Amino acid sequence: MTDADAVHHSVGVVLVAAGSGSRLGAGRPKAFVELAGKTLLQRALEGALAAGASALVVVVPEDLLAEACSVVGRACGAGPVTTAVVPGGAERSDSVRAGLAALAPECDIVLVHDAARCLTPVGVFERVISAVAAGASGAVPGIPVVDTIKTVDARGVITGTPDRGALRAVQTPQGFAADLLRAAYASDLQATDDAALVELFGHDVVVVEGDPLALKITTTDDLERARALVAEGDR
Ligand code: CTP
Ligand code: MG
Repeated sequence: MTDADAVHHSVGVVLVAAGSGSRLGAGRPKAFVELAGKTLLQRALEGALAAGASALVVVVPEDLLAEACSVVGRACGAGPVTTAVVPGGAERSDSVRAGLAALAPECDIVLVHDAARCLTPVGVFERVISAVAAGASGAVPGIPVVDTIKTVDARGVITGTPDRGALRAVQTPQGFAADLLRAAYASDLQATDDAALVELFGHDVVVVEGDPLALKITTTDDLERARALVAEGDR
């Protein structure tokens, strides 16, 4: 993001951390699991702050509101960032909706970010913000797909082989013009991620360069991989 872009925009981040982490199976919600001495939530907060967010809404399981408030208080201190901690919902989209409702209305760019992608480098945030600041309705980080992908029918029979060159594995933060994302969430449309919702709502979303470090920690294998990456980069 250039200074000129930054001056004219107010960036809000909705950090969704209200999932149960059932596939990780760590005995507590994933965002509250430690990765080399810091929880995923702490690491994700640090990333969002480093990216220059002016408002931050952290969405967590209801029973962890108090714990999350103290984590957010420690991470943000007496700094200039407006913060809120709110309870999430049953589905990720319910948690995003709850976060959007608590986001400061002056934010004109909103990023929705998974706490589970807690190692996302600040450069990824910056590319997403820059694209939206430059006029894109939405921008999401993506990386080329290395595997050959097949589509299959209900019996597992291959029905197609999409051109790999046209495929991207997308990550978060996903950034949007705030009014547009609010309007898309206020509609009856349903989608699996924020970009898909905005696409259904009829707006173009661009893909910017993602980063392998923005991996989503889903399973214990992912957590081990993330541990190795932290050790490697001393994060
Ligand atoms: N999330 C959320 N509210 C939900 C579900 C998910 O805020 N109701 C958040 C998670 O906390 C996570 C991100 O959305 O940061 C991506 O979801 P996922 O990786 O599926 O996390 P979980 O739902 O916690 O994991 P699982 O599906 O294994 O239970
Ligand atoms: Mg989930």
